Amino acid sequence: MALYLLFLLCVLSAATFSFSSGAGTAATSPTSSPATAPAPKPPPSTPISSAALDPKQLSALESLNIPTSKNPCSPPPRSGGAPPTATCDSSRPFRHLVSLTLTNCSDDVALSLTALKSLSTLTSLSFIDCPISPIRFPPELSSNLRSFTCISSLKKLTGVWLSRLHNATDLTVSRVSITASGPWVILSGMKFLHSVTLSQANLSGVLPKHWQPNLTYVDLSGNNLKGKIPASLTRLENLAHLNLSSNSLNDTIPSSIGDLSALQNLSLAKNSLSGSIPESLAALPALTHLDLSSNQLNESIPNFIRDMKKLKYLNLAGNNFRGVLPFNSTFIKGLEVFKVGDNSNLCYNRTTLGSKVKLGIAPCDKHGLPMSPPPAKDSSSSDDSSDSSDYDDYGNSEGKKKHHSGPNKVVLGVAIGLASIVFLIVFLVCLAKCCK
Ligand SMILES: *[C@@H]1O[C@H](CO)[C@@H](O)[C@H](O)[C@H]1NC(C)=O
Ligand SMILES: *[C@@H]1O[C@H](CO)[C@@H](O)[C@H](O)[C@H]1NC(C)=O
Ligand SMILES: *[C@@H]1O[C@H](CO)[C@@H](O)[C@H](O)[C@H]1NC(C)=O
Ligand SMILES: *[C@@H]1O[C@H](CO)[C@@H](O)[C@H](O)[C@H]1NC(C)=O
Ligand SMILES: *[C@@H]1O[C@H](CO)[C@@H](O)[C@H](O)[C@H]1NC(C)=O
Ligand SMILES: *[C@@H]1O[C@H](CO)[C@@H](O)[C@H](O)[C@H]1NC(C)=O
Ligand SMILES: *[C@@H]1O[C@H](CO)[C@@H](O)[C@H](O)[C@H]1NC(C)=O
Ligand SMILES: *[C@@H]1O[C@H](CO)[C@@H](O)[C@H](O)[C@H]1NC(C)=O
Ligand SMILES: *[C@@H]1O[C@H](CO)[C@@H](O)[C@H](O)[C@H]1NC(C)=O
Repeated sequence: MALYLLFLLCVLSAATFSFSSGAGTAATSPTSSPATAPAPKPPPSTPISSAALDPKQLSALESLNIPTSKNPCSPPPRSGGAPPTATCDSSRPFRHLVSLTLTNCSDDVALSLTALKSLSTLTSLSFIDCPISPIRFPPELSSNLRSFTCISSLKKLTGVWLSRLHNATDLTVSRVSITASGPWVILSGMKFLHSVTLSQANLSGVLPKHWQPNLTYVDLSGNNLKGKIPASLTRLENLAHLNLSSNSLNDTIPSSIGDLSALQNLSLAKNSLSGSIPESLAALPALTHLDLSSNQLNESIPNFIRDMKKLKYLNLAGNNFRGVLPFNSTFIKGLEVFKVGDNSNLCYNRTTLGSKVKLGIAPCDKHGLPMSPPPAKDSSSSDDSSDSSDYDDYGNSEGKKKHHSGPNKVVLGVAIGLASIVFLIVFLVCLAKCCK
C-alpha cells in the first residue's frame, strides 16, 4: 500500500514537473524566437519610372551635398523608417523632384539661388537640423511650395521671408527664431493654409484677428505672444488641434470656445489666463486632451467635465481653482492622465474618493474647504505633479493593470522556475526511492 502511494506520488510529480517545465519554456520562447527567425528581406527597389532625374536638378542636389550616386528618386529603404529624402514625379524624358528633405546638413552646405531655381518643381521642402544660412527663395519655388518644414534649421527667419510661401497648406517652423511684429505677418496672406506650427520660435506680438477658415491644426506654443485669445479664433469649425501653451496670453478663455466643434486637443497651459472654464466647453464631444495647467484660473471646476466621454488627458494643475473637486473614482480611473495638484483652494471629498488618494490637494472639511494643515503625504506630491503618477496609489490598481503586467511576468517566471526545481528534487528523490 505504501509502495503504491509512493508510486502515485512519483507519477504525479513527474507529470507536474513536465507541465511546469513546459510552461517555463513557453514563457521564455517569445523572447528567443524573433531573434532566431530570419529577418524578412527588403523588396528589391524597382524604379517606378525608368526615366532619369533632370540633370539640372541632379547637379542642384550635388551642390547641396546630397549623394546622387544612386538614383535620388528611389532612395534605399532606411532602417528606422526614416522618410525618404526625395520623391519624384514620373514625367518624361526627365523626372522632376516633388519633395525634398534635408537632414543633418554639414556646415559647408550653402543654398544657392541657381540650385533653388532648378528645384522649383518642389511642392514640399523640409529642413531638419540644418543650421545653414537662409537665402531668399526664387518666386517660382515660393509659389509652388505647398508644404514647408523648418526644424532647428536655417539659423534665423523673418516673418516677411515666411510670408512669401503664400500657397502653403502646411507650414511648420519649430525651434528657429522668427523675427516679426506678429504671426499675422506670416499668416494673413496664406489663403490655403490647413495646418500651421510656429513653435518655440520666440515669436512676439498678439494673436491674429483673422484666420483662414479651413485651418485644422494650429500650434503657436512656446513663443512670446501676448494679449487675449480672440473670439475670431473660435470660429474655425474644422479646428482639431489648438496649442497656445507657453506664451503670455492673459484675460479669460473666450466663452465661445465651445464653437470649435471639431476640437480634439486643447492646450492653453503656461499662460496667464484667469476666470473660469467656460460652460460652452461642455459642447465639445470630441475633446480628448485638455491642458489648462499653470494659469490663474480661479473659479470652481465645472461639473460638466465628468460627462465628457472622450476625455483621456486632463491637466488642471497649477491654477487657483477653489471648492470641491467634482470627480469620483470612476471618472478619474477612466483617464490616462489626471492632474489637479498645486491648487491651494481646491479640495477633494474623502467620502467619495477615499482617504488614500494622492492628488496633490487637501481633503475637504465638512464645509467644503481644504483641511488645514493638509496631510504631509498629500501636499508632498504637488511638487511632482509633472509626472503622470498622481493617482498611482489610488484605491485598487484596477485601472493600472497594464503598468504591472511587466513585473508580474517576471515574478511568474521566477515562481515557475523555483517550482520546477522543487519538483525536480522531489522527482529525483522519488526516482531514487522507486528504483531502490
Ligand atoms: C542626425 O544626426 C543625429 C545625431 O547626430 C542622429 O541620431 C540621426 O539619426 C541623424 N538623422 C539622420 C536622418 O541622419
Ligand atoms: C500660387 O499663387 C500664385 C499667385 O502668386 C498663383 O498665381 C498660382 O496659381 C499659385 N500656384 C499654384 C501652383 O497653384
Ligand atoms: C475650404 O474647404 C472647402 C471644403 O473643403 C473648400 O470648398 C474651400 O474652397 C476651401 N476654402 C479655401 C479658402 O481654401
Ligand atoms: C526674442 O525676442 C526678443 C524680442 O521680442 C529679443 O529681445 C530676444 O533677443 C529674442 N531672443 C532670441 C533668442 O532670439
Ligand atoms: C503643446 O505644445 C507644447 C510645447 O510645444 C508640447 O509640450 C505639448 O505636448 C503640446 N500639446 C499637445 C496637446 O500637443
Ligand atoms: C492630439 O495630440 C496628440 C499628442 O500631442 C497627438 O498624438 C494627436 O495626433 C493630436 N490630435 C490631433 C487631432 O491633432
Ligand atoms: C477670479 O479672478 C478675477 C480676475 O482676476 C476676479 O475678478 C474674480 O473675482 C476672481 N474670482 C474668484 C472667485 O476669486
Ligand atoms: C461617478 O460619476 C458618474 C457620473 O459622473 C456616474 O455615472 C457613476 O455612477 C459614478 N460612479 C460612482 C462609483 O459613484
Ligand atoms: C462628500 O460626499 C458625501 C457623499 O456624496 C456628501 O454627503 C457630502 O456632503 C460631501 N461633502 C462635501 C464637503 O461636499
